Amino acid sequence: MQKIAVVKKILQKVNHGSFVNSSGGKAFAPSNVALCKYWGKRDQELNLPVTSSLSISLGAKGATTYIIEQGTHDIYVLNGKVIATDSSFAMRLKGYLDLFRPTPVTNYIIEISATVPIAAGFASSACGFAALILALDDLYAWKLSKQELSILARLGSGSACRSLWDGFVEWQCGVDASGFDSYAKPLHYYWPDLRIGALVVSNSAKKISSRDAMQLTLATASSYADWPKVVENDLAQIKTAIYTQDFKLLAKTSEANAQKMHEMMAQTNPPINYSIPETQKAKDKIFALRKKDISVYFTQDAGPNLQLLFLQQDQEKIISAFPNLELIEPFHITKTENLILVDEHDTEIGIDEKMRTHFLAELHRAFSIFILRDRHGKIEVLLQKRAAGKYHSANLWTNTCCGHPRPNEEVAIAAKRRLNEEMGIVCDLKEVGKFHYKALLPETNLTENEIDHVFIGKFPEKEFSVNPDEVQDFAWVEIGELVKNFQAAPSKYTVWFYPALEFVLKQLEVN
Ligand code: DP6
Repeated sequence: MQKIAVVKKILQKVNHGSFVNSSGGKAFAPSNVALCKYWGKRDQELNLPVTSSLSISLGAKGATTYIIEQGTHDIYVLNGKVIATDSSFAMRLKGYLDLFRPTPVTNYIIEISATVPIAAGFASSACGFAALILALDDLYAWKLSKQELSILARLGSGSACRSLWDGFVEWQCGVDASGFDSYAKPLHYYWPDLRIGALVVSNSAKKISSRDAMQLTLATASSYADWPKVVENDLAQIKTAIYTQDFKLLAKTSEANAQKMHEMMAQTNPPINYSIPETQKAKDKIFALRKKDISVYFTQDAGPNLQLLFLQQDQEKIISAFPNLELIEPFHITKTENLILVDEHDTEIGIDEKMRTHFLAELHRAFSIFILRDRHGKIEVLLQKRAAGKYHSANLWTNTCCGHPRPNEEVAIAAKRRLNEEMGIVCDLKEVGKFHYKALLPETNLTENEIDHVFIGKFPEKEFSVNPDEVQDFAWVEIGELVKNFQAAPSKYTVWFYPALEFVLKQLEVN
C-alpha cells in the first residue's frame, strides 16, 4: 500500500480542503525517547515496525510548528533560518506535505521552532512530524482522533507516532499490511519523580540516518533474529516497572535494550558505530556512579548523545557529576487525575491516582449514563463505541457515557460534565441505582473495581458532536434489539455494560 492511499482513507470522511483556517494552523509536540527501541521495519513505505516499542515524552522539549497556505512555492523556516530547498530536510518535508496538498498549486510557509538538537539523536523528526500533523489538523480543522493522527505522523517518521502524547507511550506494531492497527497509545501513568538528563556530547549531524541504519541491521546483523524476543521481554519488564514504580527495573531494562540495539549495529556490514570517545567516557562515569550507589542509567538512540535516567532524589548528585546536563521533568506539565476511593457502602475513604487505582484494583466511585429517546412508542438507547486509544476496553460498545467523579465532585454533577465532554450532549439526568462490580479488563493488567452509579436521561433532540479521542462511533438501538444483540455477542460490549443496562430495563418496566 502507498502512503497516499492511507492518507486518502483517513481524510475521506473530513471533506479535506473544504475549510482552510486563514490564520494558519499551529501546534506543539514533545520529543520522545524510546525506553524500548523501534529498530527495523516490516514495511519501509509505511514505516511499519517489526516490533512494538515504548517511549517517554520529553515534556516541554519538542517542536512548535506553524503552517499557512501561501505563495507560489513552499518556504520552510527552522529556528529562524530559511532551509535550502535541496537539503535532505526540506526534501523529506516536501514529500510528506505532498500527501496533504488539497490542490497541486497549494503551497505552504512553515515555521518550526525546535528545542531539541536536530539530527543528533534527540528524536527531532519525531516531534517535527508530530507537531506538523497536529498543525495540519488545526489548519484544515479535520478534528481527527489522536490515533488517526498517530497513523498519519508515522508516515513521516515511525517514532513520530509516539510524540502525540505526554508521558509513557506504547506503539503497538500491528499486523495489518495497511498499518491501520499500527499506532501509539498513551499508558496514562504518572511518575512525577522521574527525571531525564539530556547529555549532549556532540551537536553534529549523524553520519548515517536511523532510517538507513535500522534497515542495514535488519538485513545484515546476525543477532537481529533475536530482537523480537528481546523486545517482547523488555516491554513486559518496562510495563511492570512503570505500573509498580520500580525505577531500577525500568532503567536497567531500558539501558540493556539500548545496548542491545548498538551491539547489533556493531555486527552490521559495514559496522555502524554512533558512539564517539566522549560517549564511552560518559557511560564509564555512569557505571562509576552506580558503584557508589547512585541510581543512574542511560539510553542511547541513533547518535552519540545519551539520555540519563534517574529520580529526583539523586538529581543534585547527578548534576554535579554532569554539569552540562539538561534536566527534563517529563511529567512537569502532565495533568494527573485523581479518583474517589470508597468502601463497600460507597462511603468515601480517600483518593488515589487514576491509573494506580485501576492497577491496584482499588474500589472507587464511577457512573454510567444511558441516554434514551422515544421513536414511535419504542425506546432507543444511545450507545458509544470506545475510541481505539482508550486506556482500557478500547473498541468495545457500551452505554452513552461513563466516567469517574473527581474528589469533592458530586457524582450527578460529574455525570453531566462528562456527558458533555464525551458526547456533546447537555440534559438532565436521573440516578436509577448503583451496583458493585469487579473485573479484570481484557488485554490489560488493569482491574475495574467500582461502585457504579447508573443514570438515565432523555435525549434533548439536538444535534451533538462526539469527542474523537473518546468515542469512535455511536448508534441508536431499540432496547429489545439491544438485549438480543448483547446476548448474541457479549464480547463486543464492555464488562459493566449489561449489569448497568439491567437498571434501565427495571426502570422502564416500572413506568
Ligand atoms: C533509535 O523514527 O527516526 O530513535 O521511521 O525511518 O523515520 P523512521 O525512523 P525513526 O527511528 C527512530 C529510531 C530510534 C529508536 C526509537 O525512537 O524507537
